[in-house]
Amino acid sequence: MAARNSERSFGWVTRALHWATALGVLGMLPLGVYVARMEVGYSNLWLFGLHKSIGVTIFALLAVRIVWHVVSPPPPSLPSDVAWKDQAAKWVHRAFYVLLAVVPLSGWVGSGATGLDVLVFNRITLPPLAPVSEAWETMAFGVHWVATKLLAACAIVHIAGALTRRDGTLARMVKG
Ligand code: HEM
Ligand code: HEM
Repeated sequence: MAARNSERSFGWVTRALHWATALGVLGMLPLGVYVARMEVGYSNLWLFGLHKSIGVTIFALLAVRIVWHVVSPPPPSLPSDVAWKDQAAKWVHRAFYVLLAVVPLSGWVGSGATGLDVLVFNRITLPPLAPVSEAWETMAFGVHWVATKLLAACAIVHIAGALTRRDGTLARMVKG
């Protein structure tokens, strides 16, 4: 099982990064909506910690993925039946890279602005990225809200595209 990507296939490192990120994002979208709407008390405060910890991990995975793709570039996508689908897939992949940075960073900025620590899995305390301020909090969580909705929209388009192709695209990401 090759670790590196080749001109035609994804190695296991890229596949592991992809599926860990996919699982994380698909879990975090509903978890985020839940924590934002729940009545906060001592019994459920840990869910904020879980949301922040997984979010920061997804951000770290993005950084690893970018470095890995410089070391071992991924193969180009297989051409589909129509050009607009290829363009759409390319733009969704680009949007993912931007949103996987903007979403966690805006959450980190907003959390810092509330005055609460961002504690990753109860072990590492991250420094705040903004002063304690209501204006920063509103702005950052506004960005977080919009960016998470865009991320969800991209995920729907991406998954629909992946599941409707019959040319080995999905197999390449599953089995290499
Ligand atoms: C919502 C979370 C997901 C994110 C953020 C995501 C992100 C990405 C990105 C950025 C790529 C481009 C390759 C790369 O840079 O590594 C990619 C490729 C791919 N993804 Fe996802 N993905 C997600 C979920 C899924 C799911 C659930 C499936 C399957 C149903 C899937 C199937 C694929 C396939 C088949 C490719 C290869 C496309 C090609 O060869 O052009 N992804 N994904
Ligand atoms: C890819 C990673 C992440 C995803 C997909 C995600 C997703 C979400 C979603 C969907 C919401 C609900 C927004 C709404 O509808 O009101 C939310 C809220 C929230 N997120 Fe994230 N998030 C991520 C990372 C982070 C990080 C890294 C932090 C902090 C370090 C964070 C902190 C928060 C907080 C505090 C809320 C509640 C905001 C409020 O009460 O209005 N998130 N997130």
